[in-house]
Amino acid sequence: MKFFLDSANIEEIQRASAWGIIDGVTTNPSLIAKEGAPVEDQIRRISGIIDGDISAEVVATSAKEMIAEGRLLARIHRNIIVKIPLVPEGVIAAGALAKDGIRTNVTLCFSAAQAIVAAKTGAYVVSPFIGRVDDIGWPGVEVLSDILAIYRNYGFKTQVLAASVRGPLHVVQAAKAGAHIVTLTLKVLEQLIQHPLTEKGLDQFLKDHREAFDLTPA
Ligand code: E4P
Repeated sequence: MKFFLDSANIEEIQRASAWGIIDGVTTNPSLIAKEGAPVEDQIRRISGIIDGDISAEVVATSAKEMIAEGRLLARIHRNIIVKIPLVPEGVIAAGALAKDGIRTNVTLCFSAAQAIVAAKTGAYVVSPFIGRVDDIGWPGVEVLSDILAIYRNYGFKTQVLAASVRGPLHVVQAAKAGAHIVTLTLKVLEQLIQHPLTEKGLDQFLKDHREAFDLTPA
């Protein structure tokens, strides 16, 4: 299972990258907007930190413009995956970009039906937003599992990326379902590592060690 960081913030990406467990980055127009720099500049900076797939999303709304924008984004770096929203114009654009050999991440996917369409465009990745599905009262992980089962039935090559992940439970559920990739905020990544029993156990080990060898506490 690949771990991507869901962020466009350089400091966060550097911190997460230091742990050596991040395989890529996902961004979206809202995350880029928070950083206040043009998408090309921010994506170029991210490409200098992470040597893995980096998703950069188009903001155009017509297929023609999405294709043009996608081609420009793909030229920024060899690791760029062009993110295309799962709307009718996006379906046209994703198919055209895939035919050009440009890898796409078909995003804003909320149903298995939409994910079938994404696979048919030849998408490299599809991003079901499991947290946002939960928000409307339906189990997001169920949608994720359905997509994975359908893709297995037909041997679709599109990788399934669990997005909009709200906590460690989502990560475990996505892993059990067999998601190829999970994208995480820095907060969720930190939560994955932390466990109160680990901290308690470590405190005790260090205390016992200090007492046995008469060392002054740090
Ligand atoms: C994925 O690529 C999206 O950027 C992201 O996971 C959306 O998450 P949110 O629902 O927390 O905004």
